[in-house]
Amino acid sequence: MTNELKIFSPATVANVSCGFDVLGFCLDSIGDNMVIRKTNKKGVFVTKVEGFDLPLETELNVAGVSALAMYNALKPDCGFEIEIYKNIKPGSGIGSSAASAVGSVFAMNELLGRPYNKTELTAFAIKGEAIASKCEHADNLAPALFGGFTLVKSMSPLEILQIPTPNNLYATIIHPQIEIKTSESRAILPKQVPLEDAITQWSNVGSLIHGLHTNDYQLIKRSLHDVIIEPHRSKLIPHFNDVKKAALNHGALGCGISGSGPSIFALSEGLEHAEHVENAIKTVYSKTNIAFETYVSKINTEGVKILE
Ligand code: HSE
Repeated sequence: MTNELKIFSPATVANVSCGFDVLGFCLDSIGDNMVIRKTNKKGVFVTKVEGFDLPLETELNVAGVSALAMYNALKPDCGFEIEIYKNIKPGSGIGSSAASAVGSVFAMNELLGRPYNKTELTAFAIKGEAIASKCEHADNLAPALFGGFTLVKSMSPLEILQIPTPNNLYATIIHPQIEIKTSESRAILPKQVPLEDAITQWSNVGSLIHGLHTNDYQLIKRSLHDVIIEPHRSKLIPHFNDVKKAALNHGALGCGISGSGPSIFALSEGLEHAEHVENAIKTVYSKTNIAFETYVSKINTEGVKILE
């Protein structure tokens, strides 16, 4: 019986333009590695964090908090050690805290013989994510756990829908190396929205879902618009409008803020287009003095996984 698992916990893009707090998709070219070990000593212990400076105290560590939520619910006759090898920068907008929150509960569940399903694991992971973003939402967690596109139909009771992923859909990400805290980018959002904007937004969410179901890339393109959140948050991201313009001019189906930013995502039909978009947005940021990283990724339909 295995007592230790090494896993890959992927980065994710939440919101996907029109689906604030409910839609997300999973990436495969960037993610964290974690090692989770079953121990005789009871309790949950974060024993190592590499890559970024994050707390080792279980109650302050996102992976520790989600692990504790599951541990306290199940009360297993063992303990767990968590090692985190972080590649996703905290505050990047591509689901750094979600990857940590998901990784620990996914691996513990595997080590314990899968007592929980993925929706139940999401519920534990929400507790970890909440200490990072100061509120409970699952739009990064669900795609990290389930893979592909997901829609959080409801938080209470938690209900997650898996949306089909068109086979030739690729994401391009640019991550300007500045930090935007999710809590801060939520604080600037309006509490009320005009009815006219709400109508546009829910029509886009509905048609985006339909486009994903029917592999209709042109409908996906016509649906990737956000008239509610992006106008406010884009002000926090230097050169957002130039990046968006470059991506759309170079064939992207759509372009928007990844999660709460500062990362920006574009979706394209085919790898070639996605790479073309990458070059175009690199050119925009190369003219600035802000350091950045870019990624091109097929949509990862598997989600968090065990590494052999
Ligand atoms: N839906 C969340 C937001 C994702 O945009 O604030 C970031 O955690």
